[in-house]
Amino acid sequence: MSAVIGTGRPAITVVGSLNMDLVIQVPHLPETGETVPGGTFATFPGGKGANQAVAAARLGAAVTMIGRVGADAFGRKLRDGLAAEGIDASHVGMDVEAATGVALITVDRAGRNTIVVASGANRRVTAADVDAAGAVMTSSQVVLLQLELPLEVVGHAVQMAHAAGCRVILDPAPAPPASLPDDLYRYLSVINPNEVEAHALTGIPISDESDARRAAERLLDQGCRAVVIKLGDRGAYAATDGTRAVIPAISVDVVDTTAAGDAFAAGMAVALAEGRDLADAARFANVVGAISVTRMGAQPSMPTRAEVEEFVKARRLSL
Ligand code: ATP
Ligand code: RIB
Repeated sequence: MSAVIGTGRPAITVVGSLNMDLVIQVPHLPETGETVPGGTFATFPGGKGANQAVAAARLGAAVTMIGRVGADAFGRKLRDGLAAEGIDASHVGMDVEAATGVALITVDRAGRNTIVVASGANRRVTAADVDAAGAVMTSSQVVLLQLELPLEVVGHAVQMAHAAGCRVILDPAPAPPASLPDDLYRYLSVINPNEVEAHALTGIPISDESDARRAAERLLDQGCRAVVIKLGDRGAYAATDGTRAVIPAISVDVVDTTAAGDAFAAGMAVALAEGRDLADAARFANVVGAISVTRMGAQPSMPTRAEVEEFVKARRLSL
């Protein structure tokens, strides 16, 4: 595996989802049966896979995306948006039999959200789609995946990338309804769940650092080489080999936490591809996540490398 020849940029392939996010700002998140008069409505390009692809590209990686949209206006907009970021979107198929994925999102005044996804074309990505992009994926340093595609496709891509010697990062989001197949874990270089996902995967509810530590140990025992648990406004916890690191959150003015996890995952992918160790990569990702929550929307909230460097300098952080 090597950086893209002649550019010095790390090569990252994202195997994942693309959605159009339909977002309404609300005074409070809706209860069951409640109609909440909302404020501004906006559409933003989203989908966990595409968000991570855009974030990684803005951080300086050469990114290829594998996925599927519908042959409709949202699909064209999402694919064109990736291309405009310099991402290779030639492996994002256009499906004539399914609509582009859509996410209905509400965001409250504290930046918290509810998200409901109609997966549409994302659910029709196949192992053959991955195989068709196999050469580019297996020549990447890092392959980044989430769980908005069919699990068997994720498993196929994970095994193929592992066999080729790529570093494989799984962001197990959204939380799987059942545990993941036991044999998937041993192919993962890094798994980076949030608190809800870590609970779903390990059965350990995460309410503090010691819970995160226990959940991380459980995931290491399952066979992952490294674990980073995202802890929202409490930062993150990283564990691998002899390393155990608590990474406190950076204090920021929160506008919208949507896709903070995606920003973090992309930060991890880029930093690891650039040769940082796990704890340093998690510190870098923590900055990327913190900046993303200060902005509205999924893809629009992803910072560029220059913005990350400026933030680090302004806050006198050592990275
Ligand atoms: P999403 O599902 O919305 O993409 P997530 O639940 O997977 O997000 P979080 O744990 O909420 O992910 O956040 C990811 C990372 O972003 C955190 O580990 C942290 O680094 C950063 N972050 C999130 N919320 C805040 C916050 N309020 N202040 C500072 N940093 C934050
Ligand atoms: O992680 C945030 C993303 O989750 C949103 O962009 C939405 O599309 C859903 O996939």
